[in-house]
Amino acid sequence: MRVLVLNGPNLNRLGKREKEAYGTFTLEELEQDLVEFSYHHGIELICRQSNHEGELIDWIHGAGDDALSGIVLNAGAYTHTSIAIRDAIAAIDVPVIEVHISNVHKRETFRHHSFIAPVSAGQIVGFGQNVYKLALHALLLQ
Ligand code: DQA
Repeated sequence: MRVLVLNGPNLNRLGKREKEAYGTFTLEELEQDLVEFSYHHGIELICRQSNHEGELIDWIHGAGDDALSGIVLNAGAYTHTSIAIRDAIAAIDVPVIEVHISNVHKRETFRHHSFIAPVSAGQIVGFGQNVYKLALHALLLQ
């Protein structure tokens, strides 16, 4: 199975940004860990990160065109603002698992709403970097 792990805006700053919310691991360390996990579970993993909404949308469409088995998506703040990303997910036939490193429901109210949740297979939030692996497990169980 082929899976895309897609990280949105500011997630390239992991390890430097708001460590109390997001921990001390870097995006590079996270992706390396996920690649190793995936190798052991027979998943071909593609990792991408962008700070640009349109680029994220292009990759979501690409995952649909390539008929990937799933997308693990941390859309960062676009989660709470982007109808365009919501529509991109609705336009493909690939299960998307929405993840957030922090428990967005315990934080500011503007983080409580997700445009992505209604078009996602499910949502995993608040378990730090483990949310990505938990999402890969969920895809393996499907
Ligand atoms: C986040 C939560 C979002 O509210 C925030 O804008 C992020 C990171 C998380 O992983 O906890 O950039 O998606």
